[in-house]
Amino acid sequence: MYCVKKITEYMYWVGASDRRLELFENIYPIPKGVSYNSYVILDEKTVLLDTVDRSVCSQFIENLEHVLDGRKLDYVIINHMEPDHCASLAEVVLRYPEVKIVGNAKTFTMMKQFFTFDVDSRAVAVKEGDTLSTGKHTLAFAMIPMVHWPECMVTYDAGDKILYSADAFGTFGALNGNIYADEVNFEQEWLEEARRYLTNIVGKYGTQIQAALKKASALDIQMICPLHGPVWRENLGWFIDKYQKWSTYTPEDHAVLILYASIYGNTESAVNVLAGKLGDAGEKNIAMYDVSKTDPSYLLAEAFRCDRIVFACPTYNAGIFPKMETLLLELKAHNFQNRKVAVMENGTWAISAGKQMKEILSSMKNMEIYEETLTVKSSLKDDQMEALDKIADYLMK
Ligand code: FEO
Repeated sequence: MYCVKKITEYMYWVGASDRRLELFENIYPIPKGVSYNSYVILDEKTVLLDTVDRSVCSQFIENLEHVLDGRKLDYVIINHMEPDHCASLAEVVLRYPEVKIVGNAKTFTMMKQFFTFDVDSRAVAVKEGDTLSTGKHTLAFAMIPMVHWPECMVTYDAGDKILYSADAFGTFGALNGNIYADEVNFEQEWLEEARRYLTNIVGKYGTQIQAALKKASALDIQMICPLHGPVWRENLGWFIDKYQKWSTYTPEDHAVLILYASIYGNTESAVNVLAGKLGDAGEKNIAMYDVSKTDPSYLLAEAFRCDRIVFACPTYNAGIFPKMETLLLELKAHNFQNRKVAVMENGTWAISAGKQMKEILSSMKNMEIYEETLTVKSSLKDDQMEALDKIADYLMK
């Protein structure tokens, strides 16, 4: 059965949600599912903005046919070529062979890599600032390279002040009946997933996100229609401010994040003592995670949120405990920077994890690293309490 949402007098959401998929991009856990948004504009011309992932193609086609109600499809605008949005394009072309496909030069290069249908005869190539008139509406295009792929662009309807923002302003999480962010408790129930989505998927490209935000700031935007998650029509500034922070690697919260690995519980015991000391010193906002238990995507998002971080782990195979090493390399790969950190290490012989963790941390920009690494030799001893106090003092300064 079709399942669509009427957003304006002439515009409909025709996307769908997937609650079965375990891993988005086959890497990020999505326990709350994900939505693939697609929109239809019914004007003198009919316009589809992006398609959906293959997994929800049949639902999408049913939605599209219902909204078109027998009309032909004149245009499909491809804001983003990643298959979570364009995998159903071939199906659209098959059903509406006269459709014109709007994209930029890079879009069409990628399209020919993914598909074998005739792209050239359907292609309408646009550049920065170009417009497409659909009758009562004029759509303008702006390039936002690397948010998330090089070909990414956004579409702006100046008449109704709607920005079709591609991956930007998206979030993990299936849509469960409500299409608008103001209909759900976004801060309580969605923000964590929005942060995890943005920081993991495009966290590396802060500069490019900043460039996109600068372009957006020149527009009068009343509604943001992203390709994942709810549509924004209220409180846009609040969400844009989150993007400002994430894309400039500015912490959202004054909070201590303790990330540890522990094989037999001794490193965990040491960080528990440290956490207690921080609590005693008045720290109210402490988050602790066992890196062996929690997927790195959650830890990376938490690192983007907090301003102070403790990394603690045992030495393993003369190196950093593997789960911790993976996390540190993930942080580095995402251009993580601007944090105050302390390092703790453990080992029974040839302890070297701390030095190696610090090498990775030192290669990130603007990291303020506490000089003294606390070394636990198998288990924490009474005479190390002073060293732990010093770490707590450093973090509380
Ligand atoms: Fe949602 Fe970059 O695709």
